[in-house]
Amino acid sequence: MAAIALDKIDRKFGTVHAVRDVSLEIRDGEFFTLLGPSGCGKTTLMRMVAGFCELDSGSIRFGARRIDALPPHRRNTGMVFQSYAIFPNLSVAGNVAYGLRARGVASTERNERVRKALRLVHLDGYEDRWPHQLSGGQLQRVALARCLVIEPEVLLLDEPLSNLDAKLRVEMRYEIRQLQQKLGLTAIYVTHDQEEALAISERIAVMRAGRLEQVGTPWEVYNQPANPFVADFMGVTNLLPGVVVSARGGRIEVKIGEALFAARAETGAAGDKVTLLIRPESLLLLPAQHGPPPNFASFEAIVARIEYLGVLTRLDLDLGGVTVRVAVLDKAPDHAVPGGRVSVGYDPARAILFPAS
Ligand SMILES: Nc1ncnc2c1ncn2[C@@H]1O[C@H](COP(=O)(O)OP(=O)(O)OP(=O)(O)O)[C@@H](O)[C@H]1O
Ligand SMILES: [Mg+2]
Repeated sequence: MAAIALDKIDRKFGTVHAVRDVSLEIRDGEFFTLLGPSGCGKTTLMRMVAGFCELDSGSIRFGARRIDALPPHRRNTGMVFQSYAIFPNLSVAGNVAYGLRARGVASTERNERVRKALRLVHLDGYEDRWPHQLSGGQLQRVALARCLVIEPEVLLLDEPLSNLDAKLRVEMRYEIRQLQQKLGLTAIYVTHDQEEALAISERIAVMRAGRLEQVGTPWEVYNQPANPFVADFMGVTNLLPGVVVSARGGRIEVKIGEALFAARAETGAAGDKVTLLIRPESLLLLPAQHGPPPNFASFEAIVARIEYLGVLTRLDLDLGGVTVRVAVLDKAPDHAVPGGRVSVGYDPARAILFPAS
């Protein structure tokens, strides 16, 4: 069993507080992602789980077993690094067998397990190839096989796809997820790519400056972000500065530029300065001379810019000094032209208020 419990973990490097008071429980068999900008402490946290970095304080448990004082090879983790770390002077089989040799596994069993691991990553028959004869995607598979061959309970993947081109990344992330599910491993995955995190994770922890800002399912961190930082990090959005003009029965009206917005909120009073979050794809360009659908609110704005991107079109609208972004599938309706006026509808439940920062 390999549920992972991190309790009040802390680590400083000189004056840099790399990981601050992190507590986290990861379920047995869960695919869990650490997501955050460069330098926020993702690798440090993962290295502490693997045993390559000491804790200043706190503890780590795998199931009931405390492991933070054990050396790496006694933790039963397999780690895949950002830079494949493949030995160029060993064949594919030699690379994959490396961990088994270090553990003194006899050659017959070793060969069998290497073959099995290569089959798992779809590299059967590549045993005798040299690393320089492989593509980036194949090298990444060798790295994965080398890690799986020791049959770890916990799989640690630190930006394993960052050296691959965009298309291969999409394929490989799916393969990694399939493999993790098939083998029933608990996985911690590190990335700074929010789309990758949304696509493959069961839960995501969004980190900033050594702290966890929010832990939740992909849907939760995208749709119910804990704060503007998480909202912004999870993709293109609108974080609009405004002032509350009225608050009645959970419905709040906020003035943004020259427009009035409705939002759902538990608290708030007239005069409060707020930041209103609404995703570009939650905004609906209403056909000319049409009101909003039932229960939707609406506002008017001037079209400032239109960008056609194929699968969608992005529009920047001006609310009188404040820009709001809208995304529509395919192309914008004909009446939406630069300089023209448009009506925009939205569900107030999709508008989230934060205190102004
Ligand atoms: N061995 C070290 N000595 C000194 N400072 C370190 C060391 N390792 C990490 N740091 C610092 O700790 C902070 C967190 O680094 P870490 O590598 O964990 O970030 P990260 O989130 O993995 O970033 P990236 O996305 O760029 O890989 C950074 O400010 C980094 O410079
Ligand atoms: Mg890193």
